[in-house]
Amino acid sequence: MSDLTLASSSPETSPICGNAERETSLADLGGILAAHFGTRPISVYEAGGGSTSYISLTGLSVTHITLVDIDPRQVSRNDIAHETIVGDLQTIELPAESFDLVICYNVIEHLPRLSDALQRMSRVVQRNGLIVIGAPVPMSLNGLAARFTPHFVHVWICRHLLKWPDAGKPGCAPFPVAYHRLVDPQALQAHVKALGLEPVYFRSYFGSLAEEMARKNPLLGRLLIGTTNAVNRVTFGALDLLRGDYHLVLRKI
Ligand SMILES: C[S@@+](CC[C@H](N)C(=O)[O-])C[C@H]1O[C@@H](n2cnc3c(N)ncnc32)[C@H](O)[C@@H]1O
Repeated sequence: MSDLTLASSSPETSPICGNAERETSLADLGGILAAHFGTRPISVYEAGGGSTSYISLTGLSVTHITLVDIDPRQVSRNDIAHETIVGDLQTIELPAESFDLVICYNVIEHLPRLSDALQRMSRVVQRNGLIVIGAPVPMSLNGLAARFTPHFVHVWICRHLLKWPDAGKPGCAPFPVAYHRLVDPQALQAHVKALGLEPVYFRSYFGSLAEEMARKNPLLGRLLIGTTNAVNRVTFGALDLLRGDYHLVLRKI
C-alpha cells in the first residue's frame, strides 16, 4: 500500500491549502485509474451515485455505468449513468464480478449496515478491479460535527451557514448520517482485507466543511480553523481536526 496521507499540517502553514488538497488527491485518483485500466473497456458501478460524480472518468474507455441509489429523486437527476436502479446498497443483489470499477463517494457515512454494503461491493467487483471510496474522517471537524448533532442541526448549518438554498428539501443534501465504526479509515482498511481487498491508495485532506465555511462565512471559518489549529498544536499534531475527508482506493486481489 502506498500511504500518501498528508503529514499533519495546518492550512495556515501548509504549502497546499483548502480545496487544493482535494484537487491534488482527485488528480492522484485520476492517475491511478488511468494507469490501472489504460484504454481497455471498463464497466463502472456508482454505488450511492446520487445526482452527480466527483470522480472524473475522462480518458477511460467506459462502456457502461450502473448507478444504484436509495433516493428516487437523486436518481432522476443523474445524467451520467446508462442504467439506474433505485435500491439499497446494504441489500441489493447484483451479479458477482460484473464491474471493473466501483465508486462509492460520500456515501458510507450514511449506511447503518456498512459491513453488508462493503461485502456486496466486494462481491460485484472483478478480480484486479478497483473500488474508490470517498468519505469524511470521523475524528475531524466534519465528522464530529455530523456525529454529535442531530439531523435538523445539519440542515440548519447547510441552509444558513453554508448557504445551500435547497438544504433539507426532499431528495436534497444533507442526507441523514449513521457513522458506522468502519467509516474510520484505519478500521475500514483492516476490515476489507477479509473481503479480499487491498488498499492501494489513501490520502486524507483539508475537509470540505472547514473549506466551505471559510469561503461562505469568512469570520466563522477563521474562528473554526483557528480553534482546530490550536487543538492540533496542543495535541502535538495527534488530533488534526482539519483533515476532514479521505480518499481510499482498494484493489480486489
Ligand atoms: C452525499 S450523497 C453523495 C452522492 C454522490 N455519490 C456524490 O458524491 O455526490 C449520498 C447519497 O447516498 C445515498 N444513499 C444513502 N443511503 C443509501 C443506501 N442505503 N443505499 C443506496 N444509496 C444510499 C443518498 O440517497 C445520496 O444520494
